[in-house]
Amino acid sequence: MKVLLIGSGGREHALAQALNRDPQLEELHVAPGNPGIAEIALCHLIDTDDNHVVVALAQKLEIDLVVIGPEKPLVNGLADALRKANIAVFGPSAAAAQLEGSKDFAKQVMHDAGVPTARSFTCTTKSEMEAALSTFGSPYVVKHDGLAAGKGVVVTDDRTLALDHAFLSPRVVIEEFLDGPEVSLFGISDGTTVLAMQPAQDFKRAFDGDLGPNTGGMGAYSPLPWAPRNIVAETLTKVLQPTIAEMKARNTPFVGLLYAGLALTKNGIRVIEFNARFGDPETQVLLPRLKTPLAALLYQAATGNLKDAPVLEWFDDCAVTVVLASQGYPTAPKTGEVITGISAVTDASVFHAGTVLKDGVLHSSGGRVLTVTGIGASLAEARSKAYESISKIRLRGSHYRSDIALAASTPSKIGEN
Ligand code: AMP
Ligand code: GLY
Repeated sequence: MKVLLIGSGGREHALAQALNRDPQLEELHVAPGNPGIAEIALCHLIDTDDNHVVVALAQKLEIDLVVIGPEKPLVNGLADALRKANIAVFGPSAAAAQLEGSKDFAKQVMHDAGVPTARSFTCTTKSEMEAALSTFGSPYVVKHDGLAAGKGVVVTDDRTLALDHAFLSPRVVIEEFLDGPEVSLFGISDGTTVLAMQPAQDFKRAFDGDLGPNTGGMGAYSPLPWAPRNIVAETLTKVLQPTIAEMKARNTPFVGLLYAGLALTKNGIRVIEFNARFGDPETQVLLPRLKTPLAALLYQAATGNLKDAPVLEWFDDCAVTVVLASQGYPTAPKTGEVITGISAVTDASVFHAGTVLKDGVLHSSGGRVLTVTGIGASLAEARSKAYESISKIRLRGSHYRSDIALAASTPSKIGEN
């Protein structure tokens, strides 16, 4: 099988590594990729925002399956353009990707499908926004309706801040605060059938102790020793299956990765958000643990054949990943610094995200620069491998959290994030 993967982040590097392990894979192409991905796949420096260019590349390379990593090309209709050209693609249509692209749309689908989520109002006027904030009270949760690259959501006790954030967008979703640990749980779907993956936990805040601003994610781990035993089955029946059925009933079937961001509240699971693609950095802990060959699995999903797919199999290993971020990330990341020390890492996988080669020397080029995944028989072992490895990497001004998976690998603290 010849696969073309779209994207250039740590998630795509982990996808590339997992696709490469599948014995059915003959060729792996990535567009645009990054210097780390270029070590394990053939990279094509094309404009992936231009659907025609991607379709032409897939045709030229006689690609059997395209896997779309990030949300932007999905919302931009790349999957539709590829399907029109009769190319199998793992990734939802633009219409189905609205589950991520519009918070209001996601709320409507959840409402119609009976999926448990926070009560909410979609507001377009200042008086509606003020009334909604008063209804739910503090802490206030305000979400801009459209794609916002992690900057659209504000959770605050400060009503003035909440209102200021609301006024920045013509349409906002204001919802009740959900109290409880957060879990990321992904479903792989062919539009009808959906297979649930194992859960992971992401650390969204920039600094230790869940302090600082929201980020794209500063680290993750899997499995979750503290999670309820039935969390996968419950998420499958209460969230993933009804959502997939609702999207099919609307004639916009969701083919791809349905990311459920959950809060485990005292009243049960609630969906905080949907994404229409693999999570980053959750993918960097989930895929190294997945035993089921990935290329064949995603091909079955892309071609409507998941009901014949085997149940997902997992290694017993634990995985912990830690993000190395640029100075100033997420507010004002400073890029263009030299990165050294990666070759000294022997006991972990280093996934590239914001890196670039300049005259053969690796430099930082984004806010999240690298993700370092340690694998071990316990979370504690995986954690120490990830941290020993990341400490060998040098990047001026960079920072990383030191408490990824700390509570989960310390039995007395289980359940705390
Ligand atoms: P989202 O982009 O919807 O995932 O929101 C980003 C982050 O904001 C989530 O990971 C949560 O930590 C937080 N958040 C969003 N919605 C809520 C909510 N209703 N209650 C509590 N926290 C929330
Ligand atoms: N880790 C959060 C996300 O991928 O959106």
